[in-house]
Parts: sequence; C-alpha cells; structure tokens
Amino acid sequence: MASYSAVNGSSRQDLHEVSGAGQNSSGPATPSSKRGISPWIKFGVPIFILVVIGAVLGGVLGSRAARHPTSNSSATAGGAGNDGSPAAASSAISAKNAIGRFPTATNSEWMMPVYPSTTNAAAFTTPTFNSQQNIAVWPSDSFQPSNPQPTSVRSDRPRIIAPKYKWDALPNLISADPYLKQWNDTIFGNASDYTNQPLVQYFMDGSSGILDVARQVKERIKALSYAYRMSNDTKWADRAYQELLNAGSTSWGPATDKWNNGHFLDSAELSAAFGIAYDWLYDYFNSTQKQYIRNTMIQWGLGPGRTVFEGDPNGFGWWSAPAIKGNWNCVCNGGLTVAALAILGDDTSGTAEVLLANTINSAKQACALAPSNDGTWAETANYWYFGTTGYAEMTSSLQTAAGSDFGLLSAGSGINNTGLFHMYVTGMTSLFNYGDHGPNKYSTTANAMMFLANQFDEPRYMLFQRDQWDSADPWSMFWYDPSVTGAFWNGMPLDHYFDNSTDQWASMRSSWTDDTGLYVAVKAGMLRNHQTHNDLDCGDFVLDALGTRWAGELGSGDYLSTGYFTTGDGQDSQRWLYYRKRTEGQNTILVGGQNQNVSAAPTVRFGSTGEAQGSSTVYTVPDSSAACFVADLTSAYFNVTSFKRGVRTINARKQVLIQDEITASDTVMWRMHTNATVSISGTTATLRLDGQTLQVVMLNPPSGANFTTMNAVRLPTDPALPSGNSDQPNPGVTVLVVELPAGQYTLQMLFNPQWPGMSASDFKTPSSVALDNWSLTSPS
Ligand SMILES: *[C@@H]1O[C@H](CO)[C@@H](O)[C@H](O)[C@H]1NC(C)=O
Ligand SMILES: *[C@@H]1O[C@H](CO)[C@@H](O)[C@H](O)[C@H]1NC(C)=O
Ligand SMILES: *[C@@H]1O[C@H](CO)[C@@H](O)[C@H](O)[C@H]1NC(C)=O
Ligand SMILES: *[C@@H]1O[C@H](CO)[C@@H](O)[C@H](O)[C@H]1NC(C)=O
Ligand SMILES: *[C@@H]1O[C@H](CO)[C@@H](O)[C@H](O)[C@H]1NC(C)=O
Ligand SMILES: *[C@@H]1O[C@H](CO)[C@@H](O)[C@H](O)[C@H]1NC(C)=O
Ligand SMILES: *[C@@H]1O[C@H](CO)[C@@H](O)[C@H](O)[C@H]1NC(C)=O
Ligand SMILES: *[C@@H]1O[C@H](CO)[C@@H](O)[C@H](O)[C@H]1NC(C)=O
Ligand SMILES: *[C@@H]1O[C@H](CO)[C@@H](O)[C@H](O)[C@H]1NC(C)=O
Ligand SMILES: *[C@@H]1O[C@H](CO)[C@@H](O)[C@H](O)[C@H]1NC(C)=O
Ligand SMILES: *[C@@H]1O[C@H](CO)[C@@H](O)[C@H](O)[C@H]1NC(C)=O
Ligand SMILES: *[C@@H]1O[C@H](CO)[C@@H](O)[C@H](O)[C@H]1NC(C)=O
Repeated sequence: MASYSAVNGSSRQDLHEVSGAGQNSSGPATPSSKRGISPWIKFGVPIFILVVIGAVLGGVLGSRAARHPTSNSSATAGGAGNDGSPAAASSAISAKNAIGRFPTATNSEWMMPVYPSTTNAAAFTTPTFNSQQNIAVWPSDSFQPSNPQPTSVRSDRPRIIAPKYKWDALPNLISADPYLKQWNDTIFGNASDYTNQPLVQYFMDGSSGILDVARQVKERIKALSYAYRMSNDTKWADRAYQELLNAGSTSWGPATDKWNNGHFLDSAELSAAFGIAYDWLYDYFNSTQKQYIRNTMIQWGLGPGRTVFEGDPNGFGWWSAPAIKGNWNCVCNGGLTVAALAILGDDTSGTAEVLLANTINSAKQACALAPSNDGTWAETANYWYFGTTGYAEMTSSLQTAAGSDFGLLSAGSGINNTGLFHMYVTGMTSLFNYGDHGPNKYSTTANAMMFLANQFDEPRYMLFQRDQWDSADPWSMFWYDPSVTGAFWNGMPLDHYFDNSTDQWASMRSSWTDDTGLYVAVKAGMLRNHQTHNDLDCGDFVLDALGTRWAGELGSGDYLSTGYFTTGDGQDSQRWLYYRKRTEGQNTILVGGQNQNVSAAPTVRFGSTGEAQGSSTVYTVPDSSAACFVADLTSAYFNVTSFKRGVRTINARKQVLIQDEITASDTVMWRMHTNATVSISGTTATLRLDGQTLQVVMLNPPSGANFTTMNAVRLPTDPALPSGNSDQPNPGVTVLVVELPAGQYTLQMLFNPQWPGMSASDFKTPSSVALDNWSLTSPS
C-alpha cells in the first residue's frame, strides 16, 4: 500500500481505507474523525494485491512528480511529447490507441461495462494523472484573474465549461485518446438523431412538470452546439436555434408561465439550455437571435429566478433555503448560474448580476452539503445524479468564466468523497437504489465524476466513469483529462463502510470487474432528513450474483399521490401509507405489520479483511476474505425489545449469511423482494432468474418456520390509502416471506448462488454464532 500512496502522492489516503482493514503503518490511514477502532481490526488480514508496474506506455510511472491538474503548454495537444520528441509522442499515442477502451462491451440488460478477463500490466496501472510522458494533455488556461469576481468574466468566448483554448486543443486530443474519440463520434450520432426528430414538444406530465422536456431541450442543445463548434457546419447551430425558438413560442406552455416556475427545476434547466447555446454559439448567432435568447430566458427563467432572491413574492423559491440540502438547490442554482454567466455583459437588466450575487451563496449553504461527510448523497443514490450534475455544471462554469469556484469546492465536507459513494453504491448490475429513484435522467449523467476527479485529484473517479454507458456527453469532452492512466480497480478496496449516521451503509463485493460476481449492500441510517425521498427501510439490502439482481428495490411511488411529499417524513406522514415506502415494501423485518419508527437511531459495527483488487481484471478472492455488518435496529421498531441484523460474506465471498436476532411482542415477518421465480420446500427457497439459480436456506429454523411467498402488495391489515389513491403495481415481483408469532428468534438465512462449477459440497454451512460474537473469522 505504501507504493500506492507514494505514487499517488496524495494527502487523501483516507479515501482508500476500509474500516477495520490493514491498520499497519504502511496501510491506508483511517480518518481520525471515525469512531473508535473496531475490535475486529485484530482479525483483519491485510492482503494488498497491488503491483505497481514501473514501465508504462512510452514512459515511466511516477517520473513526473507533477501534481494534478498541471499541464505545460509546451507538451500540449498536438505538440511534441514531454521529452520534446515527436517520434516518442507518436509512439505513445499509437500505444494508447492500440489498447483502446478497457471494456469490450456493455451488458445489454444492465448497461454495465464488460471487462475482458485479462492482465495488462502496462495499462492496468495504479490510477494517476500526469504520470505518463509523451502524451497530449490540455494546455493551461491563460485566464488566471488575481482577484476573481463572479461578475468579472474572461474576455473570449465560450466561457461556459469549454473555453476556446480547449476547443482548439480538442481535435488533437481526440485523435490521441480512444475514449474521447468514441464520445465525439457518439455525440455527433446523437446530434444527427435529433435533427431527424421533431422539435421537443411542450408536455406537462404532472408529477415532474415539464422537467423531462426541459432536460431534453438541454440534452439536444449540448450535442448540437458541440457538433457545430467541432465541424463549423451551420446546420447544427440552425437546428439548435429552432429548438430555442420553439421553447419560447406560443405553442410552448401557457402564455403567462411558459417555463413552469412553480416547479422551478424546469425553469432552471431551460435557462441552462439557453445559456449554453448563447455562449457556445455566440460567434454564429446574429444580434437578433441573441436578443431573442436573452429576452426569452430573462422573461421565463432568470427574471422569475431573480424574484426568489428578492423576497420571493411568488413563493416558488423554497429550494433556495439552506435547509434544502439536495438536488433541487443544486439544479436551480446551477441552471441560473450557467445562464447568468452566459449573458453577463450583454444583459442590461442587471438580472445576471443579481443572480450571481445570490446563487453561489445559496449553493454553498445547501447544495454543497447534500452529501454527508462520508460522501453519501443524503437524498438517494439516484438523486446523486441530478445533484452532482447541477453542482458540477455550476462550479465548472464559474471556474471557466470567472476563474474561481468561489468556495463551492470546499463548502461541504462530503463533496470530495461523493465520487467514492457513487462507485460503491454501484453494484454488479445496478445501483443500491434505495428510496425514490426520481424522474428520467435526460441530460443528467454520472459525468460529474470526471469533474470531481480533476478537482480532488482522484483519478479513480475518472477511470471508473469513462467506461460507463453514459460517459459520451459534451461535458466529458472537457472534464476528461487524457493524462489519466491506470485502472480504477487497481488498489480499490472491495468494501467500504459509509459511517455517517444519516445513512450508515456498507458495500461488499467479490470484484470490481467481474459483473457476474457477488455484491451485497445493506443500510441502517436515519429515516428522516433525506429531503423526503427515503423509505422506512432500516436493515434493507440488495444482493447481486451471477449477473443478476436477486434482492431488489421497488423505487418511487407516484409523486402525485396524496401526501407523498406534502405531509413530510414524520411518523404520521401520508407518505408512509404507500406500499413502496412502507417497511413491508423493503427487504427487512416487519413487526406487527407496522412501519418502522421514523426516529430510529441505529448503531452499526462493520469490519472487512480489506483486500483491494490488483492490476488484473481476474481477481481471486482469498479464502480468508470477509466483510460483515451488524446493526442494532431496536430503535427502528415498535413492540421490539431488541433487534440486530447481521450481513456477512462467507466462503471467500461466494455466499452471504443474513442473521436476525429479535425479541418482539408482536408478529415477526422476514421479507425480501425478488424478480425471481420462487419455489419452496419448507425451509429452502429456490430462486430462478435470467437462467441462473440461487438457493436461500434457513439454518436452524425456529420451530414452525417455513418460507412462503406473497405478492408485492399492501397487507390486509394496513391502514387505508387516502381516497382516490392506489399503490404502484409491482409486476413480476414476489416477496419471499417467513412469518412467526411474537417471540424471541434467531433467523439465519444463507444465500447460495449456484456458481458454475461449484458442487454442493463446496458450499459452506456456517456455525451458529451470536451477532455480538461475529468477527471477520466467525462464523465461517
Ligand atoms: C514546460 O516545459 C518546458 C520544456 O520541457 C520547460 O522548459 C518549461 O520550464 C516548462 N514550464 C513549466 C511551467 O513547467
Ligand atoms: C468527431 O466525430 C465526427 C463524426 O463521427 C467526425 O466527423 C469528426 O472527424 C470527429 N472529430 C475528430 C476531431 O475526430
Ligand atoms: C447517443 O447515441 C448512443 C449510441 O447510439 C445511444 O446509446 C445513446 O442513448 C444516445 N444518447 C442520447 C442522449 O440520445
Ligand atoms: C472551424 O473554424 C475554426 C475557426 O475558423 C477553425 O479554427 C477550425 O479549424 C474549423 N474546424 C473545422 C473542423 O473546420
Ligand atoms: C438573424 O438570423 C435569423 C435566422 O437566420 C434571420 O432570420 C434574421 O434575418 C437575421 N437577422 C439579422 C439582423 O441579420
Ligand atoms: C454527517 O455529515 C454531515 C454533513 O457533512 C455532517 O454535518 C455531520 O456532522 C456528519 N455526522 C456525523 C455523525 O459524522
Ligand atoms: C474533504 O473535505 C473536507 C472539508 O474540506 C476535509 O475536512 C476532508 O479532510 C476532506 N476529505 C478528504 C478525504 O480529502
Ligand atoms: C426487477 O427488475 C427490474 C428491472 O431490471 C429492476 O429495476 C428492479 O429493481 C427489480 N426488482 C427487484 C425487486 O429486484
Ligand atoms: C421511537 O424512537 C425514538 C428514538 O429511539 C424513541 O425515543 C421513541 O420512544 C420511539 N417511539 C416509540 C413509540 O417507541
Ligand atoms: C405495538 O406498538 C404500538 C405502538 O406503540 C401499540 O399501539 C400496540 O399496542 C403495540 N402492539 C402490541 C401487540 O404490543
Ligand atoms: C413446513 O414445510 C414442510 C415441508 O414442506 C412441511 O412438511 C411442514 O408441515 C411445514 N411446516 C409448517 C409449520 O407449515
Ligand atoms: C460470545 O462468546 C463468548 C466467549 O466464547 C461467550 O462466553 C458468550 O456467551 C458469547 N455470547 C453470545 C451472545 O453467544
């Protein structure tokens, strides 16, 4: 591990730690803010399969001590290599292009990258920036104001995210980097598709207003403006202008409120779209066109946005308050900031200046604090996308236009870790997608990972995201740094425990590159303070194995249901009447058919043997490898005097044991939601899905306990829904259930994915060990 730190040269070693792992002097440090050292540490077996390969393509790893971001314009795009030799540069480029993109395909069901089973010691090095010689990198920006002000912008255009010097450098970078090349081609393909489709039509869908169409306009504007600037073909710019004309026309929305100010996300996203087009196509549009764009966005977006900061007489600016630590604050301030920066200097109404005097402060108090200090986005794993996109667009625009982040990067203690959250919350098939999943993701991607990678010197974030299906995006063209080298999985610990009490959750896996491996994630956490996007789900888990999801989530209910948001997250909120939000709709224990106590304050112990994957995509889990999570969830329940849930991997992460110890004065029901076909024989359930099989075996079953199944629908004993409302159907979902009367129980559920080539005798049956006595070596 020492070599990792030395190469990375990072003061952020604590990002690499797994609680309870490898606490030796050369191991990854544990942040001092964390709770006391776990008693499990002594059982930890630090095995770091980390090989730092000296020789990399055309250069020597670590020979440049340069810190990221650093670039030297004499070694920039298209220039000679760092050693000044055009031949060396050309051979480095050929080598990089010969390796190509790391994944060989995208999984068609889950859209996850598929990596070849191979070792490539030259390419799969430790993640780093600027270690490689002779490779084209971004030139440095000559705009470096000594006293930056948000309203004092660079003199040349574009100024939003992609200044002219970057456009000038881009063609050569594309030819030297297989990722940039593929993204450029894809964006042109997308732009071409848009020109063959009708203009985006106004559509009010109720639950998310006109947000989908607003984001579709933005998505198109980004691609069309990009294609124009990269080709000089005016057809792209003309089509972009048609979209802008349409989104301000008489056919777009009510005459008095075209951009749906009451759901201000919509107004903000359209403002951003208009701002991007204004700035990126500034040189092409004539003065009449520019005036139209300015007037339209001020009338329907920026003007109404300004009123939010001038007393909010219309009452649609609730999102600007410091308490709104979530995506609304990020998206609304982000869109307004992008648009205000774009028209600054041409706007004679003073609107841009008023906005810039307010949006940054609002975002520093709210958006930047949306992640807990461990990086977990406190809304949900899906809302992370909207929030980080808004945050990155805003911060990047301020940096490029005005030369500073104005404190946005350091305003929150979790922004620097939120890329880590995204990596670990991504399972083998999909996210640990607890809580609400939100609306469609038009124009929203995980590409903020690339921005965060640059800002926090975390090459892993960039290497991880560049392989994802949503990486082809105009923002990536400018946030990506072609000096990045290595493999994100090299040195990446398999497990991580996110310890902030807001969410307290753990991610455990068998590999970073084999999507047919095992992933289990489980949460405890607080049930309130998630911007009303959470479920009553202490103890909830997901399980991936054999390339599919066996235990999964149901996602959002209907956002327009009575009381879904408007009655808050207190115990009596109507939100908790809907199946998908109720405790019975989660993969946890249900007592008395009742919801969990919203004031739950669980405590968690977590341990991991701390292995990190090495250079190869072929990773063999050592026999001693294990991770375990034990939560005391007593406070989450009514009629329970004690309840602990433990989740651990056993048998070199080929099996999972979930153990519940509960004493309850009301009925106890163990529940798990699955898309699998379930067949039951007493205390064994056989699940079949996607051509694979998983067995769930109840060990030491309490007397009378058998598996049964139920439909994923509300229980007959549930309180009635508000009149006129119904639950979302959950087609294809079966609930695997064990029902018991009030009493004291230990339930031990052993999950045995039927791995290819593994015989019955290869499965372990762990001994029975009380949760208080669980360690990294027991039970096994
Ligand atoms: C950039 O590289 C050139 C050539 O290697 C060197 O002379 C110059 O000092 C470098 N400039 C910076 C700012 O590092
Ligand atoms: C970007 O992609 C377009 C469409 O495939 C292509 O015509 C163009 O040459 C590419 N640009 C560069 C710099 O490779
Ligand atoms: C862009 O094109 C790619 C390749 O056809 C496609 O997979 C992707 O969905 C398109 N993206 C958008 C935003 O239309
Ligand atoms: C587009 O025009 C700019 C400015 O004249 C020029 O620098 C650039 O090379 C042109 N790009 C293409 C692909 O023709
Ligand atoms: C500006 O461009 C638009 C669209 O091409 C055109 O209709 C209009 O006549 C132009 N106006 C001026 C003043 O050039
Ligand atoms: C959780 O994160 C928030 C936001 O960074 C922070 O204010 C709070 O102190 C953290 N709580 C704990 C228990 O660390
Ligand atoms: C993240 O940022 C916070 C606040 O700026 C700082 O206290 C913390 O040490 C940083 N964490 C890492 C891992 O760099
Ligand atoms: C069922 O499959 C869908 C589609 O892959 C997925 O989104 C959902 O989470 C799955 N549900 C469960 C309960 O696993
Ligand atoms: C709910 O949990 C809180 C915090 O643990 C506790 O103070 C409260 O008494 C619980 N409510 C009930 C009805 O048990
Ligand atoms: C369970 O708890 C609820 C709320 O505290 C209470 O009203 C109910 O009587 C309890 N049921 C049993 C069986 O104790
Ligand atoms: C449990 O299942 C077994 C096997 O199907 C059956 O023989 C037994 O009667 C069941 N027990 C109960 C309590 O339902
Ligand atoms: C835990 O292990 C110790 C030592 O073997 C034993 O004395 C104790 O009873 C065990 N605790 C439980 C809850 O089983």
